[in-house]
Amino acid sequence: MNDENAPATTQEGEAATLQLGGKGYDFPVLPGTIGPDVVDISKLYGTAHTFTYDPGFTSTASCESKITYIDGDEGVLLYRGYPIEQLAEHGDFLETCYLLLYGELPTQTQKADFDHRVTNHTMLHEQMARFYSGFRRDAHPMAVMVGVVGALSAFYHDSTDISDPYQRMVASVRMIAKMPTIAAMAYKYHVGQPFMYPRNELDYASNFLHMCFAVPCEEYKVNPVLARAMDRIFILHADHEQNASTSTVRLAGSSGANPFACIAAGIACLWGPAHGGANEAALNMLGEIGSVDRIPEYIERAKDKDDPFRLMGFGHRVYKNYDPRAKIMQKTCHEVLAEVGIKDDPLLDVALELERIALQDEYFVEKKLYPNIDFYSGITLKALGFPTSMFTVLFSVARTVGWIAQWKEMIEDPKQKIGRPRQLYTGSTRRDYIPVSMRK
Ligand code: CMC
Repeated sequence: MNDENAPATTQEGEAATLQLGGKGYDFPVLPGTIGPDVVDISKLYGTAHTFTYDPGFTSTASCESKITYIDGDEGVLLYRGYPIEQLAEHGDFLETCYLLLYGELPTQTQKADFDHRVTNHTMLHEQMARFYSGFRRDAHPMAVMVGVVGALSAFYHDSTDISDPYQRMVASVRMIAKMPTIAAMAYKYHVGQPFMYPRNELDYASNFLHMCFAVPCEEYKVNPVLARAMDRIFILHADHEQNASTSTVRLAGSSGANPFACIAAGIACLWGPAHGGANEAALNMLGEIGSVDRIPEYIERAKDKDDPFRLMGFGHRVYKNYDPRAKIMQKTCHEVLAEVGIKDDPLLDVALELERIALQDEYFVEKKLYPNIDFYSGITLKALGFPTSMFTVLFSVARTVGWIAQWKEMIEDPKQKIGRPRQLYTGSTRRDYIPVSMRK
């Protein structure tokens, strides 16, 4: 452990002993560069014929990774060591992609080359456009995303051989480049407007806004303030270590599945309201609360154990402090509202007051429930012009690079094995089959 301020708990090479059935079993303790040490129990079953039990993986490290670090108690998020605040303030999304994929910030030449490669993969195979018409118009765009991204493997056969580093690189660039196009097409299909082809002279975020909001019959000028906000939203969502969708991508990829199929699996997982669907749920909740005077009623409901209602956009499995992304998102939210001329947004009033009250309420303080990124992202995305059904789609566009970087890291790890958890079986013990005529 290199963190000088941390209490000295273990030394490199130290072992943890587990007492079981009167016997002691030693397991190595592995230090990270920062963050908690881990006890390597991979030999536990082989030596003690026992499994560990950790539903929800609250105390389990599923892999070794060099990509993203979170200190949930301090509210710290680092991509390859760089604080999220610095990347969001000074960087852009494509250099963040480069950083996550290759481990270092690009030089000017590397950046120009990477931007060029991504830009030249933005178009989608023309036949894929017809794929969309197989979906109902009222399909949720996330359903379309799962289907279309999964289908990429049927169109790009030359980048599905995961044992070939070149094909892995091509698949990675293709996915980062095509996700905005696929997402914008899902949106256009949903609203019944013609698909807009990418414009390669535009930067990543501007091009995405163009594909979503331009129409062929009139000129569309991208607002640079809104494009910068979009870019920042992409940076904030780019990776978040071993969250549910990333773990899904890694697990799917551990079987050797092609990268397009793995990313489709990640999108499916992201869809849930406890994960990527939370920004949609948070905005719906703010709308349902409607006015500041109704907040106490909803706070009481969130605290009531018999009521399933939760304050959406509050709480996090890892952050037990203010989510650092939420602070940047709150600032971005104010910038976007000012730019689009929304001076008094009742939803923002409700959000600010809800946050103020919850941060003082004993229940939320005691359980360390702080606003997460989704609390302000819904209001921001709405002001940018997106319908709520697109919110999780935008999250999937941004997170694709994180999924791909983590997938690539896993494939390139010589210790990589197929992911195969075990279980605590509590079902019936062995019993004999009874023919249906004899069953009571
Ligand atoms: N409102 C009210 N109570 C809450 C909330 C909330 N939003 N979140 C957690 N709690 C309570 C929960 O009832 C439990 O109480 P008790 O210990 O008395 O049973 C305690 O806090 C711990 O909650 P948990 O469900 O055991 O914690 P978790 O780590 O399994 O869940 C979470 C994390 C994010 C799923 C949860 O906080 C939640 O459902 N929040 C609302 C949904 C949300 O905003 N999700 C976005 C997460 S950030 C984006 C992302 O990374 O995808």
